[in-house]
Amino acid sequence: MQVIILENKEQVAIEAADIIKAAILAKPDLVLGLATGSSPLGLYQKLIDANQNKEMSFRDVKTVNLDEYIGLEKTHDQSYAYFMRKQLFDQIDIQLSNTHIPSGMADDLQAEATRYEALLDELQVDLQLLGIGSNAHIGFNEPGTSFTKLTHVTDLAKETLEANARFFDTIDAVPTQAITMGIASILKAKRIVLIATGESKAQAIRCMVQGPVSETCPASVLQNHPKVLVIVDKEAASAL
Ligand code: F6R
Repeated sequence: MQVIILENKEQVAIEAADIIKAAILAKPDLVLGLATGSSPLGLYQKLIDANQNKEMSFRDVKTVNLDEYIGLEKTHDQSYAYFMRKQLFDQIDIQLSNTHIPSGMADDLQAEATRYEALLDELQVDLQLLGIGSNAHIGFNEPGTSFTKLTHVTDLAKETLEANARFFDTIDAVPTQAITMGIASILKAKRIVLIATGESKAQAIRCMVQGPVSETCPASVLQNHPKVLVIVDKEAASAL
């Protein structure tokens, strides 16, 4: 695991965007794993700028998202499907048919999880972008989740509901379940880039980088992957 510590959030966004741009330039039909949340917003804006300036194209890029809430329609403004269209897909030249997000509205969620995992196996993710929760979750793999899990339906941890309540009118409106790539699904990616900024992530970054590999710190499993780059600002690195 390689760790790059940068001055601030803006530098993290620039560095991560440069890596993704270079990967797409080297392989125009890159399979890119994407995350939602606050962490990738700056980086997505840089990718939009690069695409609009014709530095690179997403025309043949395929994307797979990590997760989606259970029970929110794609049109709900807090669904991850809506987030991805608004924050990235609708502003770049990607073909929407090449973008994939698990459905949290499927009648049979088990079947949806199986379908999504088969899709991941078929596409084979070249580069997976990750954020990290303050409890060190990756995707929605909360502390205690088995490292052997593939795509599955999961309950969100109390800390996650509290952290995500900022996007909803009340904490009771936050969906309590999600469908997420499992740890074993995430580890199938050929290369992983994790970004984190701010002091609220400092303990999670510490257990991921320095802690024992343990299911109590889900991100620590990344120590076992051969190609992981962690890009953090000084605050997120402050407990290292
Ligand atoms: C989002 C995801 C989550 C977030 C994490 C950090 O698709 O899988 O693991 O990356 O909760 O969220 P932010 O970036 O909002 O702090």
